[in-house]
Amino acid sequence: MNAIFLGPPGTGKGTQAERISVELGIAHISTGEMFRQLANEGNPVGVEAKEKYWGKGNLVPDDLTIKLVKERLAKEDCKKGFILDGFPRTIPQAEALDKITKISKVIDIESSEEIIIKRLSNRRQCSKCKKIYGIDVPPKKEGICDICQGKLIQRDDDREEVIRDRLKVYEKQTKPLIKYYKEKLITVDGEQPIDKIKQDIIKAISLK
Ligand code: AP5
Repeated sequence: MNAIFLGPPGTGKGTQAERISVELGIAHISTGEMFRQLANEGNPVGVEAKEKYWGKGNLVPDDLTIKLVKERLAKEDCKKGFILDGFPRTIPQAEALDKITKISKVIDIESSEEIIIKRLSNRRQCSKCKKIYGIDVPPKKEGICDICQGKLIQRDDDREEVIRDRLKVYEKQTKPLIKYYKEKLITVDGEQPIDKIKQDIIKAISLK
């Protein structure tokens, strides 16, 4: 099962990929998470990517992104299958991916701009284990992760002006992938409750 989760920022790709990868015992690969981790570690390439690109809502250049994903897909835990969350995001990335591996399903999770802005401005993430919280998934204790007691933080790119830029970038650079993958594409309504979306995706990826 090699799947891509497509969809605009804040539609729930990470929330669903986290849950479904655990349930299916496959790898969850989030390029956004990879970039945030590199910047947090002080890696010079990662810090530059934050300052010049993702911190401003722009895409990180294709060559760097493709290199990272190629290395990640070669790891042992991807042998049983994987979910790509946030990759590809451009046509050149999709073409490069076709040369690296075969994709079985592409799940497009769709939500309106109004819902997205509300979700992203309320999203918090654990600074240690990276668990995502939101209005519908609040932590038991405000500001503290239920799982590891880490501090919950707001992502640098979740400020409203950056969210609007990310949405524009999605429309221009990522949406063309819907046509690119039309043979494998399954669209899921991302405005439903989290568990219902999960059921819809599991059903969609089980179809031959
Ligand atoms: P990335 O981290 O991939 O961000 P994104 O695609 O913008 O997606 P998000 O993580 O913001 O949202 P999501 O769809 O995962 O939603 P989530 O589940 O968190 O990338 C960040 C940046 O890195 C990019 O902008 C770009 O610059 C760079 N980058 C990454 N990949 C790249 C690539 N391939 N090429 C170039 N650059 C790249 O949910 C959002 C909130 O809603 C949460 O609070 C959650 O709890 C809540 N929620 C989720 N589902 C529901 C629901 N059904 N009901 C109610 N609340 C819900």
